[in-house]
Formats: sequence, C-alpha cells, structure tokens
Amino acid sequence: MDPQEIIAQLRALTDGFERQLSGLESEQSIREHQAAFLSKKGSLAQLQALLGKLPQESRKEVGAAFNEAKQRIASQAHDALTALAKQAEAAYLQQYTDLSLPGRRPTIGHMHPLSIVLYDIVDVFVSMGFDVALGPEIETDLYNFEKLNFPADHPARDMQDTLFIEEGKTLLRTHTSPVQVRTMLQRPLPIQVVAPGAVYRRDDDPTHSPMFFQVEGLLVDKGVHFGHLKGVLDAFLHQVFGADVTTRFRPSFFPFTEPSAEADIQCIVCRGKGCRLCSQTGWIEILGCGMVDPNVLAGVGIDPEVYTGFAFGLGVDRIAMLRYEGITSIKLFYENDPRFLGCFAR
Ligand code: DAH
Repeated sequence: MDPQEIIAQLRALTDGFERQLSGLESEQSIREHQAAFLSKKGSLAQLQALLGKLPQESRKEVGAAFNEAKQRIASQAHDALTALAKQAEAAYLQQYTDLSLPGRRPTIGHMHPLSIVLYDIVDVFVSMGFDVALGPEIETDLYNFEKLNFPADHPARDMQDTLFIEEGKTLLRTHTSPVQVRTMLQRPLPIQVVAPGAVYRRDDDPTHSPMFFQVEGLLVDKGVHFGHLKGVLDAFLHQVFGADVTTRFRPSFFPFTEPSAEADIQCIVCRGKGCRLCSQTGWIEILGCGMVDPNVLAGVGIDPEVYTGFAFGLGVDRIAMLRYEGITSIKLFYENDPRFLGCFAR
C-alpha cells in the first residue's frame, strides 16, 4: 500500500471523528466515540495494522502521522468533555443560585475579654505618662520576695501559696511586683511604668484561678508623695468605673510599701446600700498600693533620702468581672468556650 494513501485515510478518519463529535451531547457518547477511534480495536488501530507492510523508509513518516492523529482525537475529545462539564455547571448555577440570599460573613477573631480590659487599663496609665515594662513569669525568689522586703517567715512564701519550681530559688511569680525590682535595677530615674502580665498561685475556686492577670504600677522620682498616689489612682478608678463613682483609700499592709493602702469603689450595683456583690459592705476592693518602702529602694541602690515613689497592683480578672456584670466565675475567662468569648466581639 502507498504510504500517502494511508496518510490520506488517516486524515479522512480524523476529519470524520471531528464532524461526528460536534453532534454528541453526553459524556458517555463522547467517551464511546473516542474509544471507537482510539481503543485497541478502534478504527485507527485497524489502519495502523497496515504499517508493518510498508517499506522501512516510509514508516517513520506514517508513524508520526498516526501519533499526531491520536493526539488530535484525544485533545478534541478532552475539549468536548470540558465544554460539556462547564455547560452543566452553568445550568446548575442558573437553577440553584439565589442572588437575593444574604452573603456569608467570614468569621473573624476578636480580642479575649481579659485582653480588652487589660489593654484598657494600660491605656489609662499610658495616657498619664506611664511606660509599659514587662518581666518573666518564671521568677527568682530574690525578685519575687527577697528584694520586695518579704520577711523569711512571711506566709506568702509558703508552699501553700506559691508554685515553686525549685524551692527557695525559682518559682512562678505570685504577683507582678518583681517587675518593680527589675525596672529599678535596669532603668534610669525617674521611673514611671505599668507592668501587665500573668501571675500564678495555688488557688482554685469560683473566684480564684491558679493563673490570673495583674497590672503593677511604679513611679519613682524626687518629691513623690501620697497625694500623687491618690491623685493618679483616683483618676484611674474614675476612668474605668465612671466619673460618678465614689472612691476611698483604706490603710492596709504590704511588705514592700509603707504606708500601704487599699483602694475601694462604692458598689456599682447597690451604690453603697449593701448587696451580694459587695458582701453587704457597700464597697468593692479594687487594688493595693502604697509608698515604696525605703528598704526596697535601698535594696536596688536608690537612695531613699533623695528619691521616693509609689506603687500599686490590681487584678485584671476582678475588674473584668465587675465590668461585665453577670460573670459569676473567673473560670469562664480560661475555659475558652467560643459561646462565652463570642459575647465580647466588638
Ligand atoms: N502585689 C500585691 C498582690 O499581689 C498587690 C500590690 C499591692 C502591689 C500593693 C503593689 C502595691 O505594688 O503597692 O496582692
């Protein structure tokens, strides 16, 4: 047989394939049509059987023509199937797409309620000129107790209250006050910082969590007195709890301040009449504070005859519970239930 004759037949076959393909409308018929041409017993294979009878020198040309023909058929079938799928999808979309439906909003994360309150607290002090200082949560006994003037037999040093890593040496800080010591050792005077962060105690009940958050404050300069302390904290309490809230300072004791005080606000629920929130006292305790003890200043190399300072420490969880009334257990802040946390998206 003449090689040109085979090539002409091949062309006739592929042209025929193409013509018939355009009339097919189902996936199955397209696949069957393709198989009729390309399968082992298909029309191309039958023609290809003649290849062996050709003289050696023309086999290459005819073989290449077969390859090209197979590729053309395969790619035309593929294009036809793709077009069919697109058509089906468009028909589906037209039938089932309801453009009047509201869009689906992607869920976006938001701040944790404790972070919201913590940032708000820090912002109030930053607006009064305080800088932010941070310290490690794994702390030394030296900074957590010793340098803060805790006597050796102070109950807070007991294993009952403190989570020690190595007793007498390293521990999970029980308060943010060691950041006071670190800051005084590191920064030049005058110092005016707030130190927010997590603290740890062996405590676990509806109003106590073994980990909770505090914000510490420290201001050291020449001529600082108790009036400054009262002014700053009074302004803070009014910022957080409202301009009309009544505040009071009560004498108290902390090893690292002298004199020491606790600041209360009049109960925001009963306005002083007495209720469950304030345990019938009419007042709610918010923070501890005082003038930095001269021993603490001297312990970090600051001359207490020249410099004085005040300090304060407050619990973020407690303020958050007051701000979001109805939170009855501190545990809710730490369970990370999205139904609870979702209430604080803003
Ligand atoms: N560190 C105290 C606590 O955890 C809170 C505190 C009280 C901090 C008085 C102070 C302060 O800086 O002056 O209970």
